[in-house]
Amino acid sequence: MCGIIAYIGSRTAEPLLLEGLKRLEYRGYDSAGVAILDGDSLQVARAVGRIIELEDRLGEIGGMGGTLGIGHTRWATHGGVTEANCHPHRDDANGIAVVHNGIIENYAALRTYLVGKGHAFSSETDTEVLAMLIGELYEGDLEESVKAALREVTGAYAIAVICAREPDTLVVARKGSPLMVGVGNGEYVVGSDASAIIAHTTQAFPLDDYNVVRITREGFRTSTIDDAPVTPQVMQLEFDLEQIELGAFSHFMLKEIFEQPKVLRTTLRGRIDHNEGRVVLGGLTSFAKELVKARRFILTAQGTALHAAMIGEYLLEDLAKISAEVEYGSEFRYRNPIIEDRTVVVGVSQSGETADTLCALIEAKDRGAMSLGVVNVVGSTMARETDAGVYLRVGPEIGVASTKAFTGQVTVLTMLALYMARRRFMSPDVCARCLKQLDAIPDKIERVLESDGHVREVTERYVGRDNWLFLGRGYNYPTALEGALKLKEISYIHAEGMPAAEMKHGPIALIDEGMPVVFIANQGRQYNKVLSNIAETRSRGGHVIAVATEGDTEITKVAQEVLYIPECEEYLSPLLAVVPLQLMAFHAAVLRGHDVDKPRNLAKSVTVE
Ligand code: AGP
Ligand code: GLU
Repeated sequence: MCGIIAYIGSRTAEPLLLEGLKRLEYRGYDSAGVAILDGDSLQVARAVGRIIELEDRLGEIGGMGGTLGIGHTRWATHGGVTEANCHPHRDDANGIAVVHNGIIENYAALRTYLVGKGHAFSSETDTEVLAMLIGELYEGDLEESVKAALREVTGAYAIAVICAREPDTLVVARKGSPLMVGVGNGEYVVGSDASAIIAHTTQAFPLDDYNVVRITREGFRTSTIDDAPVTPQVMQLEFDLEQIELGAFSHFMLKEIFEQPKVLRTTLRGRIDHNEGRVVLGGLTSFAKELVKARRFILTAQGTALHAAMIGEYLLEDLAKISAEVEYGSEFRYRNPIIEDRTVVVGVSQSGETADTLCALIEAKDRGAMSLGVVNVVGSTMARETDAGVYLRVGPEIGVASTKAFTGQVTVLTMLALYMARRRFMSPDVCARCLKQLDAIPDKIERVLESDGHVREVTERYVGRDNWLFLGRGYNYPTALEGALKLKEISYIHAEGMPAAEMKHGPIALIDEGMPVVFIANQGRQYNKVLSNIAETRSRGGHVIAVATEGDTEITKVAQEVLYIPECEEYLSPLLAVVPLQLMAFHAAVLRGHDVDKPRNLAKSVTVE
């Protein structure tokens, strides 16, 4: 997803904007640009492709002076990936420049109106319409013209705006797309997320929907687009640069796969009381009584987070004996969902900014549900919009392919299920035993990571194949879906995940000689059924790659390849079984020569519907 960076202060803006754009690259983009005011002279540079292309363009024009500027990485929604469609976009009369994340849904009608007013457009984007509208409404006060324009638009936006007529003013605003203001010493850095700000200050505040902030070197003023004053809560950013830097790893994705034992210990820390045999989730305290009376859970998410939510469904039913179901946020929102009383809706999300999930949560809240967030980014929209929640605490996830956030989500959902079970019927002893098993998972993941070399060898044997199947049962049906998604999104190999039993109801027709079929075949209630499905696959020439439990020798008789994981309770097995699949996807992408951390077409956080 796109990114915004803006700076106003006493330092030269150009290098700061470029550094900020590089920290936002992980979000995914296809082009970039900057606009800088040097006095009342507005300078703009834009380029298709990576940030390095923009740097080259700036080098060609000898760089830019000036201490007020805005920058953007674009993830195209309206208009192709061309230089004309790059941001910043300008008006045609006042030296106004705008960068924008999101979609202006009524841009076509506004464009017609503005053409009627004599304005000529040079791009296909919705953003240029917003820039032109701000210009059309400009009467000498940039903040007022931005507010007037935003009152006319529908859709989602995070914007940063500057104007040659007001060389000491930066205006930023948001609705539906994240934006954060970093408060420095006599300077301000605005970014789409904290990674663009943390190098300059740890004091920052997120904008809420309909917030507009007017920033000068002397200070800032926050209000709504209707001019109601707002007092933002400046918070301490809780992570440091080291967490968003590569260190000794070749890719962020690999770093984050190998970080899982460490970060999951942080996820668990302070939340497990072994003596009392209970889970302590401070973020739920104020709603504990209401939560324990819940009769039904609806978990809503997208992508990898949805796969984690699916495991959460099994956990809540299996451990807490409570009715649970999973819904794609994008589908739930546009159905007519029946929300009875004592229903809890749980939004699961790494970024806390996924529009599909956010919209579903708000729909469920409007229909009377209690809302929880299982989220990684502190202070994200989902964290602020929900009644209560539990942070993943896995640190910033930079790789577009979600790995540590997935195991963080499953770990939190496991704790949530045990939290509910213990408050409903589970004895301290039984809960303590479960918590001991959960606490042992990070060490067991470390043992799985030791097999990375073997996973790479297996992957190398099949990386040339263009179609894979991933099959699992019970708790590991969602794990199979996750393995397929990981492979798809970074190696571009077509892969399909499904319940192992489902394969014989049609997809088995796909199996041809040598087709790689990954089975999650750890010891569990359905192990023998999985063996049967493996036999069905082998009899049609499929090549079976089995994730199996250490010590299982049976599996070696039926699978061509075996990736072992340590023994663990079935309800915890996704946390181990997913790791070889993450590594397999990583190696496949590298072997195929793809950009692992910035896969084509993908965005880290999809803040548009
Ligand atoms: C996962 O590898 C993908 N990058 C994507 O499916 C992601 O999980 C999905 O967009 C949800 O994002 P969120 O967790 O930030 O809500
Ligand atoms: N809708 C705008 C465009 O297509 C902004 C896209 C983005 O969020 O990067 O240019």
